[in-house]
Amino acid sequence: MHLGLIGYGNIAHTLMGVLANEGAKPSKVTVLCTPDHVGETRARLARDFDGQGQVVAETGALIDAMPDLVVECAGHEGVRQHATAVLRAGIETVIVSIGSLADQPLHEEVLDAARAGSTRFILPAGAIGGIDVLSALKPSGIEAVSYTGRKPPGAWKGTPADKMHDLDALAVETVIFSGNAREAAIQYPKNANVAATLALAGLGFEKTGVRLVADPGVSGNVHEYSVRSAAAEFTVRIEGKPSPDNPKTSVTTVYSVAREIFNRCREQAI
Ligand SMILES: NC(=O)c1ccc[n+]([C@@H]2O[C@H](COP(=O)([O-])OP(=O)(O)OC[C@H]3O[C@@H](n4cnc5c(N)ncnc54)[C@H](O)[C@@H]3O)[C@@H](O)[C@H]2O)c1
Repeated sequence: MHLGLIGYGNIAHTLMGVLANEGAKPSKVTVLCTPDHVGETRARLARDFDGQGQVVAETGALIDAMPDLVVECAGHEGVRQHATAVLRAGIETVIVSIGSLADQPLHEEVLDAARAGSTRFILPAGAIGGIDVLSALKPSGIEAVSYTGRKPPGAWKGTPADKMHDLDALAVETVIFSGNAREAAIQYPKNANVAATLALAGLGFEKTGVRLVADPGVSGNVHEYSVRSAAAEFTVRIEGKPSPDNPKTSVTTVYSVAREIFNRCREQAI
């Protein structure tokens, strides 16, 4: 498989390690990074991957390379600047920065692009699980979905919570955000992907309740959500270990993306 990657940060780097460990090494990897990161990314990719690898800095160059599958793991700008064009070119794309779809015009653009390219985009479960049950229960009539994202105070650095609280001094759990999934995804773009994933699978951005908590009592990223529907009531709680390179990202996200690739690798010789 020729794998395309938009962004080469923590998720992409860890993903390459997981693929190698699982014997699912791609035959070729093309990475699209920002122009100022080309040299550094080339060196990182060479350390992580001993096959045919190339680094490009323009969307057109990624499309021209014709990867079999592209994984966007660059953040909201990565979706806006590149993923839509890649889809329009007919290349199947895994969108990891799901929170970006809280921007309604961008969500519509992504849908249009996939239609125009006669392809599809895949939203991985990412940091959580149970999404299959939530989306399956949709026709039964979902009454409520409420999500609480709990992380150590340090994981909220660089977010609006940093300006409202002295995160280093927090001694008790503190709710830093309470609202709906759309507001959460816009105000906390790097931390609200789970809220966006639940919203898209269930009740939508306006009706999905979100609480974000800075908790000195936890060491991992705790994602907990409850669903009430006519067919069932359930609660899912996952304590994901933070990625060593980026404490905002649960390492479970990488395994979820890797699974999408394993599924495709079985369909074709790697
Ligand atoms: N779905 C989920 O559950 C979930 C969980 C965690 C993270 N995420 C998303 O995944 C994204 C990546 O996470 P990470 O931990 O790898 O972050 P990271 O900051 O370690 O890596 C992001 C990389 O993308 C690059 N980049 C940024 N803008 C770009 C652009 N416009 N074009 C090309 N490259 C660009 C950066 O230089 C960086 O190398 C996050 O921003 C977040 O939105 C999703």
